[in-house]
Amino acid sequence: MNNKFYVTTPIYYVNDIPHIGHAYTTIAADVLSRYNRLLGKDVFFLTGTDEHGQKVEKAAVEKGRSPKEHSDLMVENFKTLWTKLNISNDAFIRTTDKEHIKTVQGLLQRLLDKGEIEKRSYSGWYCTPDERFWTEKDLVEGNCPDCGRPVEQIHEENYFFLMSKYQERLIKHIDDNPNYILPETRRNEVLGFLKHNTLGDLCISRPKQRLSWGIPLPFDDNFVTYVWFDALVNYFSATRYLTPNAKNTTPIPLPDKGGSEGGLGWWPANHHLVGKDILTTHAVYWSTMLMALNLPLPGNIFAHGWWTVEGKKMSKSVGNVVAPHDMVDRYGTDAFRYFLFREVPFGLDGDFSEDALVRRINTDLANDLGNLLSRFQTMAEKFLDGIIDTILPNISPGDDQRPFVNALSNAHNPENWSQLQFNLILEHIWNIIREANNLIARSEPWKLAKTDPERLKGVMFDIWNALRLSAVSLYPFMPDTCARIWKQIGLNNLIDEVRQSLIQKLPEDTDKYPKAFAWEWIPSYTIKISKGEQLFPRIEKKEVHAEKTPEPVKKEETNLIPITDFAKVELKIGIVVSAERVQKSNKLIKLIVDTGEQRQIVAGIGKAYSPEDLIGKKIVVVTNLQPAKLMGVESNGMLLAATGSDGVPVVLVPEKDVEVGSRIK
Ligand code: ME8
Repeated sequence: MNNKFYVTTPIYYVNDIPHIGHAYTTIAADVLSRYNRLLGKDVFFLTGTDEHGQKVEKAAVEKGRSPKEHSDLMVENFKTLWTKLNISNDAFIRTTDKEHIKTVQGLLQRLLDKGEIEKRSYSGWYCTPDERFWTEKDLVEGNCPDCGRPVEQIHEENYFFLMSKYQERLIKHIDDNPNYILPETRRNEVLGFLKHNTLGDLCISRPKQRLSWGIPLPFDDNFVTYVWFDALVNYFSATRYLTPNAKNTTPIPLPDKGGSEGGLGWWPANHHLVGKDILTTHAVYWSTMLMALNLPLPGNIFAHGWWTVEGKKMSKSVGNVVAPHDMVDRYGTDAFRYFLFREVPFGLDGDFSEDALVRRINTDLANDLGNLLSRFQTMAEKFLDGIIDTILPNISPGDDQRPFVNALSNAHNPENWSQLQFNLILEHIWNIIREANNLIARSEPWKLAKTDPERLKGVMFDIWNALRLSAVSLYPFMPDTCARIWKQIGLNNLIDEVRQSLIQKLPEDTDKYPKAFAWEWIPSYTIKISKGEQLFPRIEKKEVHAEKTPEPVKKEETNLIPITDFAKVELKIGIVVSAERVQKSNKLIKLIVDTGEQRQIVAGIGKAYSPEDLIGKKIVVVTNLQPAKLMGVESNGMLLAATGSDGVPVVLVPEKDVEVGSRIK
């Protein structure tokens, strides 16, 4: 079995200061890496910087430095931030590394020798800031269609990679491999583009007189290579000199034939994580380059969504760029990491606001998780002298433990992980935490301490186990916090213990999980709890809203209905499968809801919720309403929502996880 797991981030332009967007992709790769290390895989996690090209050259000139000096200084911004965000990358590639340069040149030569590169005269419209050629018909009012800035017409000779001949093969590859491009919406976009357009050839050189800061073409010294040809190759070149088995000085020679028997080491990558801005370069340029080189394609290219800040595009001129350093200083690394993946499904666009971050810290981290731990510790000390009985007569899960075990298996469902459904995974982990809080409320351990000490031990073991499993499952997202929770519940060292448990066998799922992910795992030593420091103190909101005087309740008895009338209403639990705004309406959202069968519902909640907030939510639906049309869109049912204090709708959700399709009676 292949035990290798190789994940990459984009290599970031070295002339920018890293912001929340760069942090996002890099933390995502870190989460995947840490999870796969827990599973016992050999992980290679690569990030780095893109240092050639016009932008870097220009920024360096402005600062009176050479491009290399400029890069050497700027690269530290990334390295420092990755340390602060607890990023566990195994290597950091710079496109100015001499081994990388050699690999790029080796591959260019190979493509030329194979007849995949051709010299042509060319005339086109060039956007200098974007370093891209456009055709006449691409231009928007004579300007660059991407950035809107003026373009200049250029006639010159250049080298072209004959990309167009791979169009059909690429379509087939994407068709045959549903996970090659994710999320599915992006996959469909790429396929749509490829099926309805003719792919051109790719200009891969720049004359030296126009740009000198690049890798010289090995076969023509008057040119340097196009920055994307250089940049994309990083994913492959790193496997030649930065992986654990590669030598540090000389790159591993390129495989002779390509194909799987060619000594490819760590290539291909399992996941390339990128933002949606650079999906085309990866899905089209990189894929066809690899085809031409006869190298295997990566397992997956995942294009995540775009962060805006309080509804606006981040920009230096607006002054709303979110500096991850500041967020970490104010709220801590783990809270920031958690927020990014809980707030927005990976793949969709998200809007960042500090208010939302504070809300998440207070509700999820301080209330749900932090309180659970501290209540557990207080009760353990008070009622059990801190000792948790792990030698219970029957450790295997019964009916009472079923909700924990179900949530756990969802959180570790390989499908969710291979599709990078981080927010869903976190939702499942939260079901463990919620269930533990419910168990405390239901069983009232303080009463059991007087009436049923044996049952008390069982309940406290369940809470302990839920905390343990939450910690191990949340570890990839919040590594420091989870290592601390692990210790605070009387265990030794999270990583060591998971690693040791890998060699122990599980009854089922033997090859899938370390035993420490299972309900049945227990340590071989005594568990002694003592109260530790608070994990997430509540953060007080800056503005305190004036308390409203409650309105006196008016008894309105005239419209009472008999229960038989109420019984006519069919209410069911449904899950929102997709959501989008109804055109030209800021109030209506069209939802597809699965209530055992899929139905379309139009709901007037668009001012309080964005469609992304709703996807994956379990809601209450009236399923036997006559169909109605709202702004021309058919609605087959209604969701239940309360009117919140400020008049905005609040969607009702079940307090505990309930199966889709359950009747509400
Ligand atoms: O494109 N929201 O580098 P780059 C989410 N050097 N993610 C964002 C973001 C935002 N607002 N802004 C940036 C380059 N990102 C090339 C890549 S790869 C072979 C070469 C993240 O510094 C996201 O991952 O402009 C995006 O794809 C990347 O930063 C672009 O980084």
